[in-house]
Amino acid sequence: MLSVLFTISTFSLVSGSLATGVPALSTRHAPSPQHDFQLDIQSVCDQIASAMSNASQVFFPSATGYTSDNEHALLSSSETSACSVEPGSTQDLGLILQIVGKSRTPFGVKSGGHIGNRGFSSTRGVQISLARFNTFNVITQAQTVELGPGLTWGDIYERLDPYGVTVIGGRYPGVGVGGLTLGGGYSFKSNEHGLAIDNVVAFELVLPNGTVTTVTADDHDLWFALRGGGNNFGIVTKLTVKSHPQGQVWGGIIIFGSDQLGAVKHAIAQFSSKVTDPNAALEAGFFYSSGEVIPAVTLFYDAPQPPSGIFDAFLRIPNQQQDVHTRSYVDIVKNQATPSTSPVGRTGSGHYCGFPTTNYSLNFLDAMADQVLQWGSQLTPLNEGVAIAAVAEPFGRGVFTHGTPSAYPPDRSRVSFPSILSFSWSNSSLDGIMARAIRESADSLRAAALKDGQDVEHAAVYPNYGLFDTPLGDMYGKNVPRLRALRRAVDPGDVMGLTGGFRF
Ligand SMILES: Cc1cc2nc3c(=O)[nH]c(=O)nc-3n(C[C@H](O)[C@H](O)[C@H](O)COP(=O)(O)OP(=O)(O)OC[C@H]3O[C@@H](n4cnc5c(N)ncnc54)[C@H](O)[C@@H]3O)c2cc1C
Ligand SMILES: *[C@@H]1O[C@H](CO)[C@@H](O)[C@H](O)[C@H]1NC(C)=O
Ligand SMILES: *[C@@H]1O[C@H](CO)[C@@H](O)[C@H](O)[C@H]1NC(C)=O
Ligand SMILES: *[C@@H]1O[C@H](CO)[C@@H](O)[C@H](O)[C@H]1NC(C)=O
Ligand SMILES: *[C@@H]1O[C@H](CO)[C@@H](O)[C@H](O)[C@H]1NC(C)=O
Repeated sequence: MLSVLFTISTFSLVSGSLATGVPALSTRHAPSPQHDFQLDIQSVCDQIASAMSNASQVFFPSATGYTSDNEHALLSSSETSACSVEPGSTQDLGLILQIVGKSRTPFGVKSGGHIGNRGFSSTRGVQISLARFNTFNVITQAQTVELGPGLTWGDIYERLDPYGVTVIGGRYPGVGVGGLTLGGGYSFKSNEHGLAIDNVVAFELVLPNGTVTTVTADDHDLWFALRGGGNNFGIVTKLTVKSHPQGQVWGGIIIFGSDQLGAVKHAIAQFSSKVTDPNAALEAGFFYSSGEVIPAVTLFYDAPQPPSGIFDAFLRIPNQQQDVHTRSYVDIVKNQATPSTSPVGRTGSGHYCGFPTTNYSLNFLDAMADQVLQWGSQLTPLNEGVAIAAVAEPFGRGVFTHGTPSAYPPDRSRVSFPSILSFSWSNSSLDGIMARAIRESADSLRAAALKDGQDVEHAAVYPNYGLFDTPLGDMYGKNVPRLRALRRAVDPGDVMGLTGGFRF
């Protein structure tokens, strides 16, 4: 997703319980007042604390660890947990799952905390932060890297830079290894090497019953399920991923004036339909601003200079601001956002809503910009913190050809691109209105894609961009029955049903 989008985006307070079936606090002990539940959780927290080895630690409100364990990229994705725990070993994490499973205590599992739906990595029960699973091992001989889900992509690229290699992960520095990879993972280098899941060699997994296991391509079902299936099958504590040689790259952000909207749409459509060079990548966003639509792009080429012809159209258009140049891979990623430029910051609400696209035709780009203009005009008068944007991600037509069958995408024979809407606002009383608005806008764009002749009827929504109400079938298609059956087999006690997220 485009940086400019993220500097102005926040998340919403719509209840994760709706989406996930996590028992609501008031219904779990239906007749009891809420303080009984709080007392129960307190005793569960104490039980966890006494079961832990000295590698792990439990935190209560006001402790520093508690604050960081509950913190998300934006405030509206956070909840106030009864306590938080930072397991420091797989054994301790297994014990935690056994304790919360037995006591039926709601819990959250957080890696980088960048999800756009409340309750997906937050809880009012026991918050499990993966911060201490921070393995970082470069295994030069095997051309792999071992990564812990406590790490973020910006730090990983920085630490890999001296080795002259990189791995396939996020395009924004603070995003976590855990959520991005388990949902799929689009990178600047996905046209070359596929999704993040296509580059995993092994997962270390704590199963819902607390047993620690390693999942590789030999484990037919779990291997399939973990690649895109999110937090349904247990908690991943280490990933072994392929490394790729990495030299200097070329690219950066260009922000245009609204008067250049038509020219930029032409350049995007041209890039999307003509460019087949796998080293080239583009993100293109439309942002609402005072009755107009401002286009902005991130250009990326995986070499010190792009061949002529690929990005010339963008470079010819007069711009307001640009920072396109030759630089390190970590530099282009770290430059993708500066939270300090956010008008809403960590205090706001927001939502993302993904919608699949198979062709960024001029007609469809018109529809995207029109949605931004229409909803921006309608919603910005409600609250001064409102920001409305739509982002096109024109990957190559071979983006799904680098991997074997996986939970997501459900059909690798048909390409689709993970387009996304971002609505953010600062007054949480607008949460309901905004959630309905972004859903309506995404539905309009799906209709526009169908009208444009696009093959989107069966194209999957990218789970990591899914609004909380997205039906499983829209993301996982024909894979839903297999994933449901597998979850029943792997988690007969429904332990992972106590945490938030899309649930099979
Ligand atoms: C600023 C920004 C930039 C982004 N850029 C990209 C991008 O370039 N490419 C892309 O594909 N997506 C991108 N995304 C979307 C991103 O993939 C999702 O938001 C993803 O869920 C974030 O992962 P996380 O670990 O930070 O989130 P969290 O909120 O910590 O986790 C998300 C979900 O994954 C589960 N989870 C996390 N770790 C584990 C684990 N180890 N085991 C089991 N379950 C786990 C959590 O329980 C939760 O349900 C971006 C999002 C933002 C906000
Ligand atoms: C943790 O406990 C082990 C075994 O009892 C001990 O060897 C180790 O020094 C302890 N570590 C810390 C950090 O206290
Ligand atoms: C996308 O649409 C444009 C315009 O209709 C068309 O020229 C192009 O061939 C289409 N591309 C693909 C790959 O379908
Ligand atoms: C938020 O919106 C509500 C309802 O429209 C309004 O009453 C309240 O004053 C607003 N709060 C702020 C801080 O603007
Ligand atoms: C835990 O679950 C796994 C996978 O279903 C199973 O193989 C294992 O035997 C279970 N362990 C225990 C102790 O029940």
